[in-house]
Amino acid sequence: MLKYAMIGGGPGAFVGAVHRNALALNGQATLVAGCFSRDLEKTRELGLELGLDEDRLYATPEEMARLEAGDIDFAVVVTSNEAHYPNVKTCLENGINVMCDKPFTHTSAQAEELVGLARAGGLHLAVTYTYAGYPMVRQMREMIARGDIGEVRFVNAEYPQGWLAELLEATGHTQASWRADPERSGGTLSLGDVGSHIEYLVPHVTGLKLTRLAARLDSLVEGRELDDNGAILTEYAGGARGMYWYSQAATGMVNGLKLRVFGDRGGLEWFQEDAEHLRYMPLGESARTIVRGSPDLLPGAMAYSHTPAGHPEGWLMAFANIYRAFCDTLISNAPVDFPTGEDGVRGVRFIEACLESSRDDTVWVEME
Ligand SMILES: NC(=O)c1ccc[n+]([C@@H]2O[C@H](COP(=O)([O-])OP(=O)(O)OC[C@H]3O[C@@H](n4cnc5c(N)ncnc54)[C@H](O)[C@@H]3O)[C@@H](O)[C@H]2O)c1
Repeated sequence: MLKYAMIGGGPGAFVGAVHRNALALNGQATLVAGCFSRDLEKTRELGLELGLDEDRLYATPEEMARLEAGDIDFAVVVTSNEAHYPNVKTCLENGINVMCDKPFTHTSAQAEELVGLARAGGLHLAVTYTYAGYPMVRQMREMIARGDIGEVRFVNAEYPQGWLAELLEATGHTQASWRADPERSGGTLSLGDVGSHIEYLVPHVTGLKLTRLAARLDSLVEGRELDDNGAILTEYAGGARGMYWYSQAATGMVNGLKLRVFGDRGGLEWFQEDAEHLRYMPLGESARTIVRGSPDLLPGAMAYSHTPAGHPEGWLMAFANIYRAFCDTLISNAPVDFPTGEDGVRGVRFIEACLESSRDDTVWVEME
């Protein structure tokens, strides 16, 4: 059993509890220490509720990393974005492996520095790009890799949400407030919050390498400083093209992540709100639906599938699958099969390029 500590995820926080539940589902790691909030009383309140020892509940992440080094196998960083970089750094400097939530850091220079620290210390650094943990996303990836849709020509990815269709941050709403604050979110609202998932998923699923992009980021809701909607044209090595749309001002949408990939022999379509099904459109044949848990699943997708077909599973299991791969590596040096710090660097570079393009009238920006 691995031991881990958590930074962030205090009382009333959104995603910290999801990480704890995902880790508990796998049964590979136990929470032993925490700095869940900048307020020690809140950290104590939650830590005691979770059954942790009082002397392993800390006022600051620095103190925790210093005193827990050697006693924990990894730390989970689930704070608001501005606290990712300093806290991941503190952990790595104390020799602790880290799982951090996305978007990884505010700048790619920070992200590269963290990857350098992890490499120098022989540590594992991972980022929870959760959607890679879905069985049918894994199925899509394996089908494309074995050539089921031929050579990929076009990718269309969209991630519309509607929960910020009003100026929610003006009401003091916790999660909206820091996301809409440039100092805390990192100069982008929705590009970092949901566009970052698209950025990771497309190369993960297709194997394509982004070579340049042109982005137009908009603030659709009056009074909002940062982007809440964006359209990005993309080009990849080898000639494939793509188009991304993300939004948190798409009134009425809930969590509409959709990924479509078209090759010269067929197409594939996956929709997060119908996560159990993958639509396969082979050239010259009727489209068919592949069902999670069915015998059609390829081995990696089957390994990610936890309940029989027709018994839905979802987001929590996707987090759990990312953690399972991370813990397998920490336990037995299993090959890395989770989004890494290097993926985090690429994600932040993408955000920077979109901001640059959008500021300069949607000019094309070359990627390395
Ligand atoms: N992977 C996903 O699908 C996914 C989903 C939701 C959120 N996220 C990411 O997770 C992170 C947290 O988002 P959220 O919605 O849970 O935010 P939240 O505001 O609900 O929770 C943040 C928590 O971090 C704590 N915190 C902030 N700074 C801290 C510090 N310096 N030390 C200790 N604790 C600190 C806060 O007290 C709070 O408990 C964000 O980076 C967000 O982008 C990822």
